[in-house]
Amino acid sequence: MSSFSLEPASIHDGDDILAMLNEIGRGENGFHNHAYNLTWKEYKAYLNHCERNSKGLSLDKGHVQQTTYWFRQDSYPLGVIKLRHELNDSLRRQGGHIGYSMRPSERGKGYGKVMLQAVLNPARALGLDKVLLTIFISNIASRKMVERCGGVLERSEGGICYYWIELTTSQL
Ligand SMILES: CC(C)(COP(=O)(O)OP(=O)(O)OC[C@H]1O[C@@H](n2cnc3c(N)ncnc32)[C@H](O)[C@@H]1OP(=O)(O)O)[C@@H](O)C(=O)NCCC(=O)NCCS
Repeated sequence: MSSFSLEPASIHDGDDILAMLNEIGRGENGFHNHAYNLTWKEYKAYLNHCERNSKGLSLDKGHVQQTTYWFRQDSYPLGVIKLRHELNDSLRRQGGHIGYSMRPSERGKGYGKVMLQAVLNPARALGLDKVLLTIFISNIASRKMVERCGGVLERSEGGICYYWIELTTSQL
């Protein structure tokens, strides 16, 4: 039986993660992949940046503390998911607590729901009692995925759906 895991980005990550990030491309539907088409040296600098951001260090202007996780099935990387430790006004409008992308060759297999469920544990460990997800109205796969994970639509405005997932102990 296969097992799924989430692990935070680390300077020690290898070419399997880089291959996944290249397959994901520049990003879509509001998800930005800053690690597309990088040289090895640039990739290592990116990983260092992720590690530091996870500790609240070297944050870009207007950014909050954020941990980037790789989602794996056994050892194979399937996707990336970013957890913002808090919201600011910009994230409240667009971005929310959580952003993600599955590598295109592994989409539509149910893994997105597993990945999102998995990140709710570290979110809870941060002391968050609910998380915000902002999703373009047209992004049906992402909306379904969030709804399957308990997301409740608060409102839709300006082409964006605002979903909250309550992090109750019953989801542990
Ligand atoms: C959103 C995304 C992570 C979903 O990952 P996934 O592994 O394909 O999702 P799942 O297979 O778990 O499917 C989740 C739900 O969406 C449905 N779904 C999947 N792909 C779909 C599609 N292309 N059209 C409509 N529904 C779709 C599934 O049937 C499932 O619903 P169900 O529970 O009713 O069966 C993936 O499509 C992706 O990486 N998209 C690009 C990046 C992106 O949009 N990020 C989100 C920004 S808010």
